[in-house]
Amino acid sequence: MEIARTFAETRAGYEGRVGLLPTLGYFHEGHLALMDLLREKCDTLVVSLFVNPTQFDQSDDFAAYPRNEERDAALAEEHGTDILFAPAEEEVYPGPSITTVSVAGVTDEMEGRHRPGHFVGVATVVAKLFAGLNPDLAMFGRKDAQQVTVLRAMVRDLRFPIEIVQAPVVREPDGLALSSRNVRLDRMDREASLAISRGLFQAAEQVDAGERRGERLEATAMRSMKSLDVDYVKLASQATMKPIETLDEPAVLAVAANLGEVRLIDNVAFDIEGSIVTADRGILLESHSTLSAMP
Ligand code: PAF
Repeated sequence: MEIARTFAETRAGYEGRVGLLPTLGYFHEGHLALMDLLREKCDTLVVSLFVNPTQFDQSDDFAAYPRNEERDAALAEEHGTDILFAPAEEEVYPGPSITTVSVAGVTDEMEGRHRPGHFVGVATVVAKLFAGLNPDLAMFGRKDAQQVTVLRAMVRDLRFPIEIVQAPVVREPDGLALSSRNVRLDRMDREASLAISRGLFQAAEQVDAGERRGERLEATAMRSMKSLDVDYVKLASQATMKPIETLDEPAVLAVAANLGEVRLIDNVAFDIEGSIVTADRGILLESHSTLSAMP
């Protein structure tokens, strides 16, 4: 595996169909599952590792974001990565940033409302990665459901000839969605965090039993999380990321909650084919992730 620091160096290593997995690093089994999936779909697997400052609305969250390039490089290599693109900030932001990408509408609610500027940072950095690396396809995890919708809209509107592939949420055996931020949870908050997936799974069971009213599903999830500092629980359309009253189109039941200093997001997606609604709860690992073993 090559570690490249510039866009040009990365592109020079391409052969055939190029798949890109954009990441903020500090890999967990969620990232590794995405690498394995993407490996199957491309000839050159590029993983980008860049803690993008412009998408963090809180500077202390940016500073506290875990980083370990050496560990990440070893894991990426084990999972078939050909090129790890790990640029310095100047490669991605060569001067004062006077050009940004802003996606309207689908960013109005949920993460867009609670993290002002977040999606401009995400769309801008992903547009830079797409322009500079020119992949054929790019993969994003479904845990950031709103991000997937935002990036699909950007790709459509800016005519990037790139296929966006989404991959399921990966969870600890007890249900907690994998996130690099989980290592910052103390023992009590780690225990308390289970209320999030429990609430989402209970709502998904109601959907399996025929419930379609958004209010009921949100109330079920909220009941489980009543002791948490919840930013939102929303049933939202996958297409618009706007709240919906009835589950009659592909949707997500999405949650954001704060545990101490750590903000977690999670969701269950509901896909619809004909009259059949399927809840995508993600993948449960059989044993605890490597992240739980981290100091
Ligand atoms: O989902 C993430 O890890 C980030 O938002 C992304 C897509 C790598 C952009 O920095």
